[in-house]
Amino acid sequence: MADQVRILCVDDEENILNSLRRLFMDEEFETVISGSGAKALEILGSGRDFAVIISDQRMPGMTGTEFLAQAREAAPEATRILLTGYADIEATVDAINRGGASRYITKPWNDTELLQTVKDAISSYLLRRENRRLAALVQQQNEELKEWNGNLKHRVLEQTADIRKKNGELQELIDHHQKNFEDTIEAFSNLVELHNPGVRSHSRNVARIAVRAAEILELPDPELKTVRVAALLHDIGKIGGPSTPALRDTVTQGTRDLTEYMQHPVRGQAAVDGVEGLRAAGVLIRHHHEHYDGSGFPDRLLRAEIPPGAQLIGMADFLEIGLRGFQGDNAVELALAELKKQLGSLFDPELFPAVARAALEVCDAFRAKSGLEEREVSSTGLAEGMVLSRDICSGTGLLLLSKGIELDADNIQALRRNYRLDPPKGGVFVLVRK
Ligand SMILES: [Fe+2]
Ligand SMILES: [Fe+2]
Repeated sequence: MADQVRILCVDDEENILNSLRRLFMDEEFETVISGSGAKALEILGSGRDFAVIISDQRMPGMTGTEFLAQAREAAPEATRILLTGYADIEATVDAINRGGASRYITKPWNDTELLQTVKDAISSYLLRRENRRLAALVQQQNEELKEWNGNLKHRVLEQTADIRKKNGELQELIDHHQKNFEDTIEAFSNLVELHNPGVRSHSRNVARIAVRAAEILELPDPELKTVRVAALLHDIGKIGGPSTPALRDTVTQGTRDLTEYMQHPVRGQAAVDGVEGLRAAGVLIRHHHEHYDGSGFPDRLLRAEIPPGAQLIGMADFLEIGLRGFQGDNAVELALAELKKQLGSLFDPELFPAVARAALEVCDAFRAKSGLEEREVSSTGLAEGMVLSRDICSGTGLLLLSKGIELDADNIQALRRNYRLDPPKGGVFVLVRK
């Protein structure tokens, strides 16, 4: 049994060994005896554990002092006791000094005292053994914990890197879809303008003014996007109807044309309603011709019933068409004066300051580029940062980019692709510093 407690008694005199064996006979520990130090060392070398080693001092061959000194190496945990006569005081002191014995008992011994000494020695041995076992357990658990921590950290780092990578991929995908979505909106917007060649760039200009006004009014980001998409597509319902160049021209047209014209906001909303991502923009498209005083169409909405984004598009639309009628540096101011006349009837007076500031800023940005001179370059000579001085249309007349746009890597690439697919006649007109 692994937990069996043993003691080892060493003496050359058989009767002493027998006395000891008798003394310990009824105890719970096992008593092993040896007639010499040399044999006892062999027993210690056999791998069995001993709690206590009792050795006589006077033995032929190897003295108790010598034996216990060697036993210390073989069984360091055992309590070693020297049995000595009164005459062996020097040897006893020597044995204790050399560390071989921790106690001594003089012969003849008192049985009770010897038994108690052995029991105490066994208790302290068992305590030391338990201590050692617990210390080893703590050490082992510490090592396991350290390893587990190391593995956990590694796993967490690995998973974090994985999540970051997946997030990056997802963001790339989202950006890609967003870009596709925006390109599709631009393509639709181009189709609208292809249908009404007299108002080229109209939708883009309306979008610039309406979005800037919405920014000034601090509309939340998703609404800005909705305003932009709705402004680019506000007249998409004109496709399929008669060609009607501009809103204010239509009031002079016949009733039939006018009725047809008045359907374009509803038709526009219906056209985009199939695309879930465009439904919010569809509402603004439907209401971009509502009037503040309830005289507009298609639903004759009144004041706060009109979505602000739809009013901004309506005002920018009115302003953009008005700008086409004026020349010179104060064209914006003149167009704004016309718009101002419609406040309270067609448009919400509270939105006017934002629209006016937006229109001035958008036109200033364009004017700021007028300190540049125009030059025609081939599609291969385009560089980032160049500003278009004229609209660029494909060979079949589709507007690719409108004037005022600053070229970046993306639209240069798109232009070059278009130049291969549907080559325009000339080059690209850009503004460069004089
Ligand atoms: Fe319209
Ligand atoms: Fe319009």
